Amino acid sequence: MKAVGSYKALTVNEAEAFLDVEIDRQVATARNLLVNVKAVSVNPVDTKVRKRPHPDETLRILGWDASGVVTAVGDDVTGFRVGDEIYYAGCITKPGSNSEYQLVDERIAAKKPTSLGFAESAALPLTTITAWEALFERLGISKTGTDAGKTILMIGGAGGVGSIAIQLAKKLSQLNVIATASRPESSDWCKARGADHVINHYENIPAQLEAIGHANVDYVLCLTNIAGYWKTITDVIKPQGDICTIVDFFEDSNLDLLKPKSARFSFEFMFVRSMHETDDMGEVGKLLSETAALIDNGDLITTVTEVVGPINAENMRKIHATIEEGRAIGKYVIEGWG
Ligand SMILES: NC(=O)c1ccc[n+]([C@@H]2O[C@H](COP(=O)([O-])OP(=O)(O)OC[C@H]3O[C@@H](n4cnc5c(N)ncnc54)[C@H](OP(=O)(O)O)[C@@H]3O)[C@@H](O)[C@H]2O)c1
Repeated sequence: MKAVGSYKALTVNEAEAFLDVEIDRQVATARNLLVNVKAVSVNPVDTKVRKRPHPDETLRILGWDASGVVTAVGDDVTGFRVGDEIYYAGCITKPGSNSEYQLVDERIAAKKPTSLGFAESAALPLTTITAWEALFERLGISKTGTDAGKTILMIGGAGGVGSIAIQLAKKLSQLNVIATASRPESSDWCKARGADHVINHYENIPAQLEAIGHANVDYVLCLTNIAGYWKTITDVIKPQGDICTIVDFFEDSNLDLLKPKSARFSFEFMFVRSMHETDDMGEVGKLLSETAALIDNGDLITTVTEVVGPINAENMRKIHATIEEGRAIGKYVIEGWG
């Protein structure tokens, strides 16, 4: 079968960073589904893993966002049948989705939205799992409206995660959503996904919050460069407020700044359940099923900006380069095998 992979840790422009290869198809066992991958999306994690040291120099297949058709099921699978059209992010410790066929554990997959094609479906899983877990599990926000009217600041609103987090916070939780974006096009994108206010992350955030009548916020979801915003976040969070980030601190940050406000802080890592095979791993599949229903009901809209094809080394390199610039708006998808 076809796949796109690499044997070395390389930068985006190096010739061998993306190779079109032929590899053997795997066999579905236990709770695994063998999926004929139809479309994939690229996330910043792909670009980070691509550059990670790779001592054994075996083939590494990236890709943690896909849609496709189930072609075989393991003996212990209960929730899916051959022919089901599914979407999933997969597991960071397993081979990724940039291959014609891929194994995925049924507990972290769901039937794709029926109203979306494979390309638009492939854009959703990784970012939706992240946004959903961050909002409803780490920040503990109600998704049934109990927290309606509370205010959330999302730093980095127009990216892949922000594009779905804004919608979930607005449509399900009915929060007052303040997103950040630095350009007219990224600002418009946030507003089109439901942000009540958009402020510029490169300008004075407390002053802009004050100007829109929200000097302090109940929640902060930081989707970028937390270290650079840490002081600002701890300044604007309300007493007893909740802060969550999905990115690493790249330097020591002073957690003492949380104490005077008894503010809570949490990390969200969307691979935690699949990587550690936690007892509640099935929550990932469930939230993807709920998301598919919300999409089909018209409550959530697409996060796709661009679809290219086919899935090959050339297109993979182009989309990695776009993501690596750090100015992506929404999601970029690659569809079909040519
Ligand atoms: N922990 C997890 O489970 C998890 C899951 C998914 C993603 N992540 C990580 O979270 C980050 C965001 O992911 P993503 O998919 O949303 O990325 P993305 O789509 O590449 O985000 C691009 C957006 O980031 C904004 N941005 C760039 N630099 C910024 C800055 N200094 N301050 C504020 N915003 C900035 C840009 O807005 P403007 O163009 O308007 O400036 C752009 O719209 C990545 O580091 C990713 O690896 C972690």
